[in-house]
Amino acid sequence: MSEYILETENLIKDFPGVRALNKVNLKIKKGEIHALCGENGAGKSTMMSIISGVYPKGSYEGKVFYKGKETNYHSVKDSEKEGLAIIHQELALSPYLSIYENMFLGHMKTTMGVIPWDHYILESKKYLDQVGLHENPATIVSKMGVGKQQLVEIARALSKKVELLILDEPTASLNDDESAKLLDLMLEFKRQGITSVMISHKLNEVMKVSDSVTIIRDGQSISAYSVKEDNLTEAVIIKDMVGRDLTHRFPERKSNPGETVMEVKNWTVYHPEYHSIKVVDNASFYLRKGEILGFCGPMGAGRTELMMSIYGKSYGSRSTGALYLKGQAASLKNAKAALNAGMTYVSEDRKGLGLILIQGIKTNISVSSLQKLSRMGIVVAQEEIEKAEKYRKDLRIKTPSINQLTRNLSGGNQQKVVLSRSLLVDPEIFIVDEPTRGIDIGAKAEIYGILNELVQKGKSVIMVTSELPEALGMADRIYVMNEGRIKGELSREEATQEKIMRIALLG
Ligand SMILES: Nc1ncnc2c1ncn2[C@@H]1O[C@H](COP(=O)(O)OP(=O)(O)OP(=O)(O)O)[C@@H](O)[C@H]1O
Ligand SMILES: [Mg+2]
Repeated sequence: MSEYILETENLIKDFPGVRALNKVNLKIKKGEIHALCGENGAGKSTMMSIISGVYPKGSYEGKVFYKGKETNYHSVKDSEKEGLAIIHQELALSPYLSIYENMFLGHMKTTMGVIPWDHYILESKKYLDQVGLHENPATIVSKMGVGKQQLVEIARALSKKVELLILDEPTASLNDDESAKLLDLMLEFKRQGITSVMISHKLNEVMKVSDSVTIIRDGQSISAYSVKEDNLTEAVIIKDMVGRDLTHRFPERKSNPGETVMEVKNWTVYHPEYHSIKVVDNASFYLRKGEILGFCGPMGAGRTELMMSIYGKSYGSRSTGALYLKGQAASLKNAKAALNAGMTYVSEDRKGLGLILIQGIKTNISVSSLQKLSRMGIVVAQEEIEKAEKYRKDLRIKTPSINQLTRNLSGGNQQKVVLSRSLLVDPEIFIVDEPTRGIDIGAKAEIYGILNELVQKGKSVIMVTSELPEALGMADRIYVMNEGRIKGELSREEATQEKIMRIALLG
């Protein structure tokens, strides 16, 4: 038998108006960790959907060979039976069911007409232990963070005796700690003989765990490397991904902040359900005109909760404290009031809070600016189209048409749509929460350029980010949060990764 567990031959996949894959080839050796890299919309997720049977035989051209045999899958169930498992870019658990129900639903066998619940609870515990998730199997999935939810999906794959595990951007929503644990878990799987394919935009992680890397661009395979034998570097991957050298990951900008435009004093927010738990504790900070303000800290530090509660009380209960906009005390009772006061908030949760997936790109971009686009109460269609076209071009949103449904875009391109919506509002204060999550390296540089332009025009940006290089490369000032409190503040000049981490931990 060949040394490859999986091979594809000239895969072609068309969607209305787009050729997503144009003869891609991939060869994955048994037992290795193989990374798949490429820009947003290159075709990575589509390829994995073909391999795992999400797109059934007949809906694409070309061949897939698994363990030497051509596959003929009609659904994911077919591939699961043969030991293939895919963890999707957007998690796919049922939020209101428990861990063990998510793991075994649809596969439970009854004994004398009764489901032996105890058996399945014990069984799920076994796999949870294997992935290092110490949670009660009866825990409802939506009560856990994304990191843990992801582990449940992996445990679910293990329970089906996985031989080839496909992970589509597994660490995109994880903090450093959780990411490191997941990568370790992949290495452990490798020792057990499980083959993994990982899609990732985080090249340092790719370099850390993978044995080989395939790079695709515009639906075509560009190159494949063995990390050790070819002495592969990040620079080579980037060059193959974007088709050119990328010298400035963080475009230059002269920092020139003006007067204070927003001030928050003694801001405290309580949990929306558990009213005695403080999620944000006595936070005070200020934001100046023409400034990018970074908010760093571990996940769960309270950064998102702080920003959302300022943004018209979109989070929490009983928030107290004072908010001043241009020196005037302001009370924003909902998100609409915040928008009217000149703020926008781009959520880190693009699927839950950001996008209307069943609507077109154009509608998603214009929805917060309808008043601006209207004359005498009627939206001027032409202007709406022009604006959507402008952002499609400026942010290089990969789509055949602005009328394309947003759910048909690749993950990174969906993120660009959320950003476009805020840009069109043209607010004075632009709050962005993990703005470049799932975005490829080239597009990141473009988004940084756009943020720089905004502050140069005198707007102000608050950037919540878990990527320290991004905070260091972009922010004029950085606040470090942990445990609901602002633990410290650093200027651009004094900030380093070590200092940020030290402040987060020790204050
Ligand atoms: N259901 C669909 N209908 C129409 N077009 C689609 C559909 N799914 C994907 N596409 C298009 O196919 C192309 C490849 O998308 P895919 O999701 O595979 O990209 P990707 O490499 O995973 O990108 P990302 O890094 O942003 O996740 C994109 O142009 C996308 O818009
Ligand atoms: Mg994808």
